Amino acid sequence: MRMYDVIRKKRDGGTLNKEEIYAFIRGYVAGEIPDYQASALLMAIYFRGMTDEETANLTFAMRDSGDKLDLSHLGGVRVDKHSTGGVGDKTSLIAMPVVASCGVTVAKMSGRGLGHTGGTVDKLEAFPGFRTDLSSAEFESAVKEAGIAIVGQSGTLAPADKLLYALRDVTATVDSIPLIASSIMSKKLAADDHCIVLDVKTGSGAFMKTVEESTLLAKTMVEIGKRAGKKMRALITDMDIPLGNAVGNALEVQEAISVLSSNGPADLTEVSLSLAAHMLCLAGKGTLSACEEMAKNAIASGAALKTLAQMVKMQGGDERLVSQPQLFAKAQCSYAVCARESGYITAVNAESYGTASLLLGAGRNKKEDAIDLSAGIMLCKKTGDSVKKGEVIARLYAAREELFPAAESVLLAATKIGGEPPKKRPLILAVVE
Ligand code: URA
Repeated sequence: MRMYDVIRKKRDGGTLNKEEIYAFIRGYVAGEIPDYQASALLMAIYFRGMTDEETANLTFAMRDSGDKLDLSHLGGVRVDKHSTGGVGDKTSLIAMPVVASCGVTVAKMSGRGLGHTGGTVDKLEAFPGFRTDLSSAEFESAVKEAGIAIVGQSGTLAPADKLLYALRDVTATVDSIPLIASSIMSKKLAADDHCIVLDVKTGSGAFMKTVEESTLLAKTMVEIGKRAGKKMRALITDMDIPLGNAVGNALEVQEAISVLSSNGPADLTEVSLSLAAHMLCLAGKGTLSACEEMAKNAIASGAALKTLAQMVKMQGGDERLVSQPQLFAKAQCSYAVCARESGYITAVNAESYGTASLLLGAGRNKKEDAIDLSAGIMLCKKTGDSVKKGEVIARLYAAREELFPAAESVLLAATKIGGEPPKKRPLILAVVE
C-alpha cells in the first residue's frame, strides 16, 4: 500500500477500508510516514469526511496503536469525562475532584491546548512541580491515595492520537467530526474506564459552531463508545461565550479553585456541577437529582477542594497553592482593554478570544512552542452586560508589552456592542444518551 494512493483515494471522495486506515496509523506511529503525507491525508479527511465505519476503524486503529490501561485491580466504578474543547473551559479541574470526593474513582488522561482552545494538562502544569507524565505505578498509587489522578497522554497510550493531535493543531485540521471523534474516543477507549461523559461544546468558541453539528459529533462518539462496551452520555453545552471569566492556564486554575471554594462564576459552576452529576449518575450513585445534590454538597463541604489538593500533592505539585492561589506566578505585564462605545455586549466571537489569549503566549503556534502559563485574559464584561465607553471590558496578561496591541485588536473586533441586551440561551442545551 502506498501512502500516496491512500491520500488520493480520500482526496477524490473514496471510502478507506480497515486495512488502509490501520496501515496509515501503524506507518505514521512507526515514523515511516512523514508529517507532510499525514497532513495531506488529514486535510483530505477534513474536506471529504468519513463514513461511520471509517470513523470507527480510525478510532480503533488509534486505540490499538499502543498500550491499553488495565486498572481492574483498583476495583470500583471508574468514570471519565472529556470536552471537545472550548475557551475558558476548566470544568475538568472542578468536576473531576467533585466526582472523586463522592467516592467514584477518577483515572483520567487529558490533552494539551489545541488550536484556539486550552487543555487540562497545560493548566495543571501551572502548579509548580506538577507532573502529568507519571509512570503506570505512580499513576496507580496516586489514584489509590487521592481517588483521582489526571495525567497527560503517555507516549504508549494511543500514541497515534498524541502525534496526530499535535499535527492537527498546526495544520488547521482540528474542526472535523471524524478527526475529533476518533481523537477523543481512541484515548478514552485505551483508558480503562466504565463510564464516559462527553462535554460537546457548541457555539463560536467551539470546534462545532451549531447545535446540529455538535449533536452529530456527540452521537458519533456515543455510538463508538457503546460499540466498545462503555456506558456513555454526552451533554451539549454552550460555548458561544467563554466559560467563566478567566482564559489562560494559571488564571483558569485559580478560577477553578474559586468555584471549588464556593465563590466562582455562576456559568462555570453550573456546567461543572451538571457534568459531575451526570458522571455520578452514570456511575450508579443515584438519580440525576440526587447526584446534583451530592455534587453541590461536595463543594459546599470543602471535600472537593481537599481532593484537588491531595491530587496536586500526589502528582508532585505545590498543594499550598490550592489554599493560597495568590502564590501562582503572575505575568510581568498587564493591560486594560476598554470599550470603544456604550451599550450592551450583544455577542462575542469566543474563538477569537481564544486566539487573543494565544497571541499573549498562552497557547502554541507551532508544535514545539513553549507556552507562558501566566499569560491570558480576565474578562470584566461578558455577553449581556452593559458597558460604558471607556470602561474596562478585559485585562490582558503577558510577559511583554509588545504582545498587547495585536491581542487587543482581536478582542475588540470580536466584541459586538449594541443598543439591546441579547436573548440568553441555556448553558446545557441537550443530553445525548
Ligand atoms: N479534544 C481532543 O482530545 N481531540 C480533539 O480532536 C478535540 C478535542
